[in-house]
Amino acid sequence: MKMANYTDQDITLRNESFPRSNSYDPKWIIDNQMGLNPLWLTEWVCEKISLAPGMRVLDLGCGKGLSSIFLAKEYNVQVWAADLWIKPTENYDRFRQADVHDQVFPIHADARSLPFADEYFDAILCTDAYIYFGTDDLYLDYLHHFVKSGGWIGITVPGFMRR
Ligand SMILES: C[S@@+](CC[C@H](N)C(=O)[O-])C[C@H]1O[C@@H](n2cnc3c(N)ncnc32)[C@H](O)[C@@H]1O
Repeated sequence: MKMANYTDQDITLRNESFPRSNSYDPKWIIDNQMGLNPLWLTEWVCEKISLAPGMRVLDLGCGKGLSSIFLAKEYNVQVWAADLWIKPTENYDRFRQADVHDQVFPIHADARSLPFADEYFDAILCTDAYIYFGTDDLYLDYLHHFVKSGGWIGITVPGFMRR
């Protein structure tokens, strides 16, 4: 999704709550995000879970893979970037441009029929996508089979924050 009428000077996505995200090009984020800022949401959820280098992470409903790139660069994990609408070839191009193509694997997958082994992942993260497929009462029970015992499922969805 391309946001028109922004100049480089107009774009300020700096947020002191998200220091890691601040180092990414705001234009790149705005040009590729499909809803909320996926880097902020990913940085926020990663403060709550323990990722270690080399871990296997499923980025479920990754869209254009910005969160997948962020996970690889910031936490040095391996990422399976799975999405239904965005073609893996398009995401692979982005992963190559970001130089993370050796650790981020683009996959076309429907979240309701995932092509993975049970207990394959150390963590499953789902950024601004769960509402598209996870509202069935039984879905979380289905999803948790793909995470190792003691692993993590981190879901971020749009909402309002009371201050
Ligand atoms: C609002 S976009 C968010 C994309 C990305 N996570 C981000 O934050 O930029 C929602 C994503 O959910 C994905 N999605 C919707 N239904 C899906 C399904 N059944 N399986 C996998 N992905 C799905 C879409 O392909 C889309 O990329």
